[in-house]
Amino acid sequence: MREEGRWIYLILVGLLSLLTTEAYEVGLTFLNSAVAKGAVCLDGSAPAYHMDKGFGAGVNNWLVFFEGGGWCNNVTSCLARRDERLGSSKKMLTTETFSGMFHNKPKYNPDFYDWNRIKVRYCDGASFTGDVEAVDPKTNLHFRGARIFRAVIEDLLAKGMKNAKNAMLAGCSAGGLTSILQCDNFRSLLPATTKVKCLADAGFFINGKTIIGTSHIEGFFADVVKTHGSAKVLSPACTSRMSPGLCFFPQNMVQYIKTPIFLINAAYDSWQVKNILAPGVADRKGTWRSCKLDITKCSPAQLNVLQGYRREFLQALTGFGNSPSRGMFINSCYSHCQTGIQETWLRNDSPLLSNTTIAKAVGNWYYDRGTFQKIDCPYPCDKTCHNRVFE
Ligand SMILES: *[C@@H]1O[C@H](CO)[C@@H](O)[C@H](O)[C@H]1NC(C)=O
Ligand SMILES: *[C@@H]1O[C@H](CO)[C@@H](O)[C@H](O)[C@H]1NC(C)=O
Repeated sequence: MREEGRWIYLILVGLLSLLTTEAYEVGLTFLNSAVAKGAVCLDGSAPAYHMDKGFGAGVNNWLVFFEGGGWCNNVTSCLARRDERLGSSKKMLTTETFSGMFHNKPKYNPDFYDWNRIKVRYCDGASFTGDVEAVDPKTNLHFRGARIFRAVIEDLLAKGMKNAKNAMLAGCSAGGLTSILQCDNFRSLLPATTKVKCLADAGFFINGKTIIGTSHIEGFFADVVKTHGSAKVLSPACTSRMSPGLCFFPQNMVQYIKTPIFLINAAYDSWQVKNILAPGVADRKGTWRSCKLDITKCSPAQLNVLQGYRREFLQALTGFGNSPSRGMFINSCYSHCQTGIQETWLRNDSPLLSNTTIAKAVGNWYYDRGTFQKIDCPYPCDKTCHNRVFE
């Protein structure tokens, strides 16, 4: 028995050291001063972020990363998240795992490990774009994402970002969309002497059709923009040409972004396949259910449809152009968000494009050591993917 206990102990210590090296926990900071500016979560609570301070040569470098978590498009769906972690800082987890591009060790994160690294919690439901003054007392819903965005940047400027040498706006999923939509706004809030770039991980949501040929995401995004009053922060060059709802799609406004920007996205982005291509309303019989959960379960006919979606995705990307200030890492994995996890950001088995990890491609681009604009061959050619399998 004693011998057994000793083994269990050793195994636990081993596992623990593995875990603690690949990731660590960072506490939550509430931005109480934002409440007076009306910069609040859906329920009126203060916004919040996790911050790990920069050190050594990185003290004046800032990574500001916005969390994702879908959107709420109307009062009903916003009420459903108002008292949850995506709508209220009262319900957020008080610690967050820092790993991948948030890691504080050069081995795991060679180019950004010593930067100030901030992960902003998502609690507005519109990719930090909303700004509606009125609050209906019946629902107490606050649509104030754009104010949160601004209040967080102002707070970080006061905490030292006003002296930033380097800064990067980033985010994943709905937060990746923030990074695209607010890229030039971020640039304008920082000193002219700061080198500013933007990075969008899984934020390039396309205006795609469903498996039955209907429009679904287009109406959904139009509702998000209308409900949250997002039009004011969207690209004026875009909103002068088309409706604000359409300007929520990167493909319609990315050409107007002036700040250097990098896109990391899977052409078979698992969120897009589940919610743009084959949402429940377009798949009443559930024939896509197992394919959506695990790409290896897709039939040849479904794979054909997925190849069509990839072509649509690449078509939507054409406006992005190939200016050397712009980077892209478009792989053929079934995934969604690849920067905040060690296994996809940088590990000996992490995804590669042209033999290059995401960490290296982003680092080289940020520091102007080289350009990177690569699109993977179609699924299933890429053997370096970490394809998601959902329960
Ligand atoms: C609100 O949006 C949801 C989808 O998120 C939809 O199912 C519902 O019908 C909408 N409700 C109203 C009142 O428009
Ligand atoms: C890929 O990169 C690794 C490590 O940098 C190197 O050892 C290997 O030779 C490279 N392979 C090719 C095909 O370039």
